[in-house]
Amino acid sequence: MCGIVGILGQNSAAPRLVESLRRLEYRGYDSAGIATLEHDGIVRVRAPGKLASLETALEPVRLTGTSGIGHTRWATHGAPNETNAHPHVAPGVAIVHNGIIENFRELKAELTGLGCEFESQTDTEIVAHLISEGLKDGRGPRHAVHAALKRLEGAFALAIMIEGYPDLLIGARKGSPLAVGHGENENYLGSDAIALAVMTNKVTYLEEGDWVVLSRQSVEIYDADGDPVDRTMQHTNASALLVDKGNHRHFMAKEIAEQPEVIGHTLAEYIDLAEGKVDLPDFPFGFENLERITITACGTAYYAGLAAKYWFERVARIPADVDIASEFRYREAPMVPGGLSIFVSQSGETADTLAALRYCQANHQNTLGIVNVRESTIARECEAIMPTFAGPEIGVASTKAFTCQLAVLACLAIGIARAKGTLSSTEETELVDALIGVPRHVAEILKEERHIEEIARTVAGSRDVLYLGRGISFPLALEGALKLKEISYIHAEGYAAGELKHGPIALIDESVPVIVIAPHDDLFDKTMSNMQEVAARGGKIILITDKQTAEKNGSTEFAQISVPVTNPFVNPMIYAVPVQLLAYHAAVFMGTDVDQPRNLAKSVTVE
Ligand code: AGP
Repeated sequence: MCGIVGILGQNSAAPRLVESLRRLEYRGYDSAGIATLEHDGIVRVRAPGKLASLETALEPVRLTGTSGIGHTRWATHGAPNETNAHPHVAPGVAIVHNGIIENFRELKAELTGLGCEFESQTDTEIVAHLISEGLKDGRGPRHAVHAALKRLEGAFALAIMIEGYPDLLIGARKGSPLAVGHGENENYLGSDAIALAVMTNKVTYLEEGDWVVLSRQSVEIYDADGDPVDRTMQHTNASALLVDKGNHRHFMAKEIAEQPEVIGHTLAEYIDLAEGKVDLPDFPFGFENLERITITACGTAYYAGLAAKYWFERVARIPADVDIASEFRYREAPMVPGGLSIFVSQSGETADTLAALRYCQANHQNTLGIVNVRESTIARECEAIMPTFAGPEIGVASTKAFTCQLAVLACLAIGIARAKGTLSSTEETELVDALIGVPRHVAEILKEERHIEEIARTVAGSRDVLYLGRGISFPLALEGALKLKEISYIHAEGYAAGELKHGPIALIDESVPVIVIAPHDDLFDKTMSNMQEVAARGGKIILITDKQTAEKNGSTEFAQISVPVTNPFVNPMIYAVPVQLLAYHAAVFMGTDVDQPRNLAKSVTVE
């Protein structure tokens, strides 16, 4: 994640920008930079590494400008050096950005054709040039920015400063968070309330697609179409705590909402967005001769491993065995040396998973940790790690960590397939492009939250709930059931849809909601047959499928939740979001402690 901040103030902006960035370092610290508007134009100071390096670089520079923008970077495109550090500039424009511009390759080619010269490898720089071209065409700042925003695809938050306009700051939010801070004859932009707490606790959170035009005396918020909208200003209690709920009721809700941003950052770690190829870390082991993969984890992390099995076997053509760690650690599984053993864990401290890791090490496996906490025990003891970049996950129910685990496993499956020669370069680009689109699609699903909330109310209070899925949707059925039971305390089970007739269908009556996860993939028709078996017995069906299928079904006697049509390869990350929201809203309706459900802990560090 990156942190962005902007200030339209009454006194020197530079020290205040640095102070805000200090509170944003938890979002990334590969580099940092600020730009202020001085008498003779935009002045920019940047430095690689932590904020202290920027402070050193600022010492000899006299900046008196009262408006400016700042950025602390977690590198997505291009090395974490000064050239790629934000703010980025183009003639008359300075900009800071958090997120991914998916179509930046096409836009960069177009702007290069117009004679624009680029200094960095970042996607951000093309946005500065797009706005600069608009100014050159005679557009005013807000029109130049709005025109540029309409060209961008992806998930991003932006803060923009225009030379010659000392009382103007423009921000935009699409998939990555951005908030407005309200001061006394001052206004501000920030990634979250923490960044703004240095200046104010009066905050307005922008919503999806919003953009905002600030002066020191005014705040004008517009929707994606450019129509004025009202957003509620609130008083935050963001304190020294580095993580707060923002404008969400629970940490779980915030973490579900953060998924476009954190999935984007996780993908950007393992994908060369400029080339459209997977870009894995250098491992101390190779994949060319790999013959077997084992994946061991617990709970939600185990379901991520189960989904990955389909990718490893279908795309990389390698047998993949997935085990619950508490079972694996005592099974004394025979293991041929040289296999790849993968350990998936948000906390990196789960005792059963750690014990499994040690068993695999003793059996001469190459060990790879997929963890969200880089300094955790599992991370330290694995030969190699592929961290997720979900940021701190506070809610006991794992959500953003799960989708980031899937993102890492998808990139790994593609990388191994390329090493094994089972995936062509063209096929790789197709899958990578599908992955790059996931943050945007997840942001689209989040817009349906109110509809999902209504459906969740029909599930709340049930005695039993069934989740059905086939193929790679079967692990999602298991995950959906776990989400529901662990936070709402409703008994729920996930089943392979084809298994229903082998016993569980005896459970079906009109009191049992059956949630069917059915993307329009090669197993869709089979799953629909299972759904009809449920309907014939009076089961209360909730179908989660793609928009085209839902529209074809029309208004039916059962509830539907529709998600964007995507390449089936990325469906696990797409269909995870509706099942998370269903569980969350059912639990809220039930009045349970969503963030800290009874009997549970965030990290199970005991057997
Ligand atoms: C998931 O919502 C639960 N909190 C739990 O199943 C969790 O996934 C499991 O305990 C594994 O934790 P880890 O990812 O930190 O290893």
